[in-house]
Amino acid sequence: MTQTTFAITSAGKLVQDIHPLVAHHLLVVGQTGSGKTTSTLSLLDQLQRTNYTTIIFDPTGEYSKLPNSVIYKLGKNAYLEAGQLSAHQLREALQISGSPLLNAKLSQAINALRIQQNLVQSNQPYVKIGVPIADYQKQLARLSNWSRSFAPQQLAEQLIEEFVIPYPDERADYSLLGQQYDRPTINREWNAIATIRQRLVSEAFRVLFDPEPHPGVFKTELNFVIKMFLEHRSSHRTLVIDLSKLKQYEESQRVVISLLLKNLLADRLQVPNNFPVNIVLDEAHRYLPQDEQQLADNGIFQVLREGRKVGLSMTLTTQSPLDLPARLRSQFANLLLHHLTSPEELSSLAITDGIDLREISRLSTGEAILLLANTPQRKIKVNLPKWWENNHDGNEENGD
Ligand SMILES: Nc1ncnc2c1ncn2[C@@H]1O[C@H](COP(=O)(O)OP(=O)(O)OP(=O)(O)O)[C@@H](O)[C@H]1O
Ligand SMILES: [Mg+2]
Repeated sequence: MTQTTFAITSAGKLVQDIHPLVAHHLLVVGQTGSGKTTSTLSLLDQLQRTNYTTIIFDPTGEYSKLPNSVIYKLGKNAYLEAGQLSAHQLREALQISGSPLLNAKLSQAINALRIQQNLVQSNQPYVKIGVPIADYQKQLARLSNWSRSFAPQQLAEQLIEEFVIPYPDERADYSLLGQQYDRPTINREWNAIATIRQRLVSEAFRVLFDPEPHPGVFKTELNFVIKMFLEHRSSHRTLVIDLSKLKQYEESQRVVISLLLKNLLADRLQVPNNFPVNIVLDEAHRYLPQDEQQLADNGIFQVLREGRKVGLSMTLTTQSPLDLPARLRSQFANLLLHHLTSPEELSSLAITDGIDLREISRLSTGEAILLLANTPQRKIKVNLPKWWENNHDGNEENGD
């Protein structure tokens, strides 16, 4: 039976005031199939009724079925401006681990392509042989923050142009960027250069960076989408960023999600517009780095740690709290506990004192224990959203 309230308690009371759930960071946990995604959709459905602002990062496309939302789908009506990424992030997104030399050259190549695109208005590589260093430095100085864009599909070719050196004899002119190709070094780095070229022509990355117009389709840059959504109030208060085109590339999704969240946080810190925003990420552990050191640089972690003071709260789901880095688990004041069977999983969450594992292990699909800051725990049964039946009655997903 579908209802209009998010959930009902075991005492038969409606859980109607749902704002406290998202006033703090909320972690939704439970084994696979226990109802995490469905509970999150149901919570979102009710938040929509109160015009609460939500941004959903959707790596699988599961949330595109949420009615009344604005959907930006990578590869369909959205792209990412390559120039938003640092050389390091670009390398992570493309999943290439080059030598330190290649990484340094990659930063240089990006700058050269930025000059081409923004100052020379060319989509071709910047040929460095014979160019005076002084001229190049003048061009670099003219680049500014608004001229970050570049043509990523030229990166491999541009990398080759970066390996230039003076003549080795008396003809050497050290005032030039270079006079000939450094062929032995190019050959040593050839595998990595070839990998970059190959990644950039693959479907997933053409989709990620491609702002090319397709007839009848208008694509918008994702950072811009989020900025506009947060700065201009409209009647639709749910934004879905569908990243399912990168499904095969979790690492790349991680970089993109982290980057978008960092920029979102920076925007909020800059423009103190404090209406609350709830950010949803399903199966969050997949998009977090394993390494504790990298955690501090990750956008999800930064929003968890600093977002609350600028009105940003996160709703994350995960199958096991043990999949989350320990430093991150302590950031959640609210918990929605679905079926779990392991005592380690339960005890890894600081705020579950007094919770009986037997009770958690007996929960059936859609049942959960709701733990809110400063509120006694409640056992609840989550209701399916009202739109659920229409959506699931033989209504095929439109595979595009
Ligand atoms: N509250 C509910 N009422 C009725 N059915 C539900 C409820 N919650 C979940 N289900 C059913 O259980 C199935 C699994 O739910 P869901 O996909 O939400 O689980 P999950 O925990 O997100 O699983 P996974 O870890 O695989 O993502 C769904 O297809 C849904 O039909
Ligand atoms: Mg799920």
